[in-house]
Amino acid sequence: MAKDPLYPNRRPALAADASWPGSGGLVAVTQLLQWHLCEVITRAKFNAYPYLELAICGFKQPRRAKKMAIERTFSIIKPDATKRNLTGKIISKFEDAGLRVVASKRIHMTQAQAEGFYAVHKERPFYGDLCSYMVSGPVVVQVLEGEDAIAKNREVMGATNPADAAPGTIRAEFAESIEANSVHGSDAPETAAEEIKFFFTDDEIVG
Ligand code: CMP
Repeated sequence: MAKDPLYPNRRPALAADASWPGSGGLVAVTQLLQWHLCEVITRAKFNAYPYLELAICGFKQPRRAKKMAIERTFSIIKPDATKRNLTGKIISKFEDAGLRVVASKRIHMTQAQAEGFYAVHKERPFYGDLCSYMVSGPVVVQVLEGEDAIAKNREVMGATNPADAAPGTIRAEFAESIEANSVHGSDAPETAAEEIKFFFTDDEIVG
């Protein structure tokens, strides 16, 4: 049934009208019913669109990014870096990555502190040399805070062996050797908590 292009929703003239071909009550009633049917279908479609769109958009919506947890991690700027006056440059790398220094002190580690801190490596052949190296000059012990801080810190530091560290990382840019590798960072939440406690009291950490 043709619709008026200017007023598509207006009920068309009935066949009985003078402008329509043919005449008679039956034709007029049939056309009226046809028109009502068309209207009902159109309105049903129209009403269903928002729900249809909602369903499609729901599927299309990108999943919300996983919210990262705010963590704290422990960091040491080692003697090879403090000797070469690299403290500021190293801290800038952490800050540029979104990590905040919430505790910091420059200390000269005692032999007992170095041995206790690295006790996990006691059986390793490098343990003795590592402890001697850690007491060979001042270090800066720090607590870093931020989203996913433990992983982020490790990313910024680069691989333990500078030969394997990715370009742009602290160890790739500054480390001298696998031992004198400029920085230490905790490797897991449990070790981060233990290492922070090893050097800091709660009131020394200011978030
Ligand atoms: P760090 O992240 O402080 O953890 C343990 C440290 O041991 C490591 O960095 C290095 O300084 C040192 N280390 C690890 N492997 C070796 C190695 N093969 N030889 C010498 N020192 C090492």
